Amino acid sequence: MSRQHHKSIVVLTGAGVSAESGISTFRALDGLWESYRIEDVASPRGFAANPHLVHRFYNDRRKRLLSGTVQPNRAHRALADLEASFRGAFLLVTQNIDDLHERAGSKNVIHMHGELLKQRCAYCGDIEAATPQLGITDACARCHRTGGIRPHVVWFGETPLRMEDIYSAIEDCNLFIAIGTSGNVYPAAGFVAAAAAVGAHTVELNLEPSAVESAFAEKKYGPAGTLVPEFVSTLQG
Ligand code: OAD
Repeated sequence: MSRQHHKSIVVLTGAGVSAESGISTFRALDGLWESYRIEDVASPRGFAANPHLVHRFYNDRRKRLLSGTVQPNRAHRALADLEASFRGAFLLVTQNIDDLHERAGSKNVIHMHGELLKQRCAYCGDIEAATPQLGITDACARCHRTGGIRPHVVWFGETPLRMEDIYSAIEDCNLFIAIGTSGNVYPAAGFVAAAAAVGAHTVELNLEPSAVESAFAEKKYGPAGTLVPEFVSTLQG
């Protein structure tokens, strides 16, 4: 299938796209949700109960992301390349909170689950670049209150970001590609159904069939670092 058939592309990525960069996925046997309870480190209640633990969890992940050992991989670069060469509308929606898509050169990116490198004030909503180590005594640069600084990430029970923009792009797309996501977390897991409903061609690129695999018209299984450049080259051919 050549790209001439496509006027608008929406790509959804999940933790699997960053796995080959050395970032743990969530639901693998050695994944993050095996070592931590989701409700302890990724929920407003967990933050209220033990902000130290939550800050440590995200501070450690931020430190590793900035350590230099974590770099964009071939899948991130292929997606940036596709966006640069594609003449239609292109939106990359990621559930990932790392910045590897941007480091690879992607421009039109929505982080629907937030960004590890940003912090937000729970009191006034101010969003700033995150300091390396967030803590409970940090003061907000805008409202000056302490105790409200939290990672700018979406926790369970909170609404993902920019949903209107995402659905509007999906409604206009004629190619939807999901990469490296297990299809367990909604609303992202429902995007394929929304894309199929408007007649878009739907493609799953993942290590293994996802929980919503049956909703995709085309599927390829293997590591993203191999599959994504291969698939992108078929679009560019
Ligand atoms: P998961 O950990 O649930 O799924 C990762 C998927 O990537 C799995 O289907 C793996 O098979 C696949 N995978 C692993 N390595 C891969 C590789 N090298 N190439 C291709 N695929 C690979 O992660 P997500 O689906 O992203 O939310 O999880 C969705 C959300 O659940 C996350 O954003 C996070 C989490 O709880 C919040 O924290 C709000």
